[in-house]
Amino acid sequence: MLNSGAIALDARKRRIGVFDSGVGGLTVLREFYRQLPNESLLYLADTARLPYGTRSPAEIIQFSREILSWMESQGVKMVVMACNTSSALALDVVRQEFDLPIVGLILPAAKVAVNQGRRVGVIATPITAESNAYRRAMVEVDPTVQVWQVGCPEFVPAIEAGRLHDPETIAVARDYLAPLIDCQIDTLVYGCTHYPHLAGTIETLLPSGVQTIDPAEHVVAAAAQELDLLNLRHHGQPQPTRFCVTGDGDRFAQLAQRWLGCAPLVDRVKLLEVDRAAVNS
Ligand code: DGL
Repeated sequence: MLNSGAIALDARKRRIGVFDSGVGGLTVLREFYRQLPNESLLYLADTARLPYGTRSPAEIIQFSREILSWMESQGVKMVVMACNTSSALALDVVRQEFDLPIVGLILPAAKVAVNQGRRVGVIATPITAESNAYRRAMVEVDPTVQVWQVGCPEFVPAIEAGRLHDPETIAVARDYLAPLIDCQIDTLVYGCTHYPHLAGTIETLLPSGVQTIDPAEHVVAAAAQELDLLNLRHHGQPQPTRFCVTGDGDRFAQLAQRWLGCAPLVDRVKLLEVDRAAVNS
């Protein structure tokens, strides 16, 4: 018979679920490899439905439910939302509906931003910017901070198409940053996990002295704290990361290769529709 210590040990070996609409969450995966190299990961990219950033709040909540439900069926020990849009719109809802530790991006990044800056710019998907989630989180920590948020609808399609250095991408980046530069921001938050893929371009357009914050670093630090709190941290050898998509696996593998150094093996999975009443019963 297993004693409770043995059961806890087994739970520590389980994977952490990490999800995004596409390759954006790989910026979070990279931080997992750096900060928590012993954890086994399950990465899901909901590529069939990207981009998320121009969807409605109701859709984002529903997609997050379906992903959480699938992650639960895969036996993960925790889920990290590697997607600001889901974190802004759906975190509070799914936390009430699922019996799993769920970590979101906004609060850990907001805390760091108010510590580092007084005039903070946030670039994000249109729906994240409209939700005001970053401003609310920052002002709650420090009501004196000033926050400007800009929605950047062209960035995710450009990144998912691999158009990182095209003149059009650089031109739209210049347009998105202009109002923030006019407001004399001292700090810029990448409020979408895709955007650090454009860091090379964005950072050359910013005035010197403006610091950037990549929330990936801070969400993984928050996940590490939560794992310790729940006694779920794994210290042994990890299993290789499992990559899953809801759309075209070859396309994702090709793009992911650029960030991971080798093309991952990718499984295509189907998410089931979840009805809220069933989740709550
Ligand atoms: N990378 C996601 C985010 O952080 C989603 C981007 C999208 O699909 O629009 O918001």
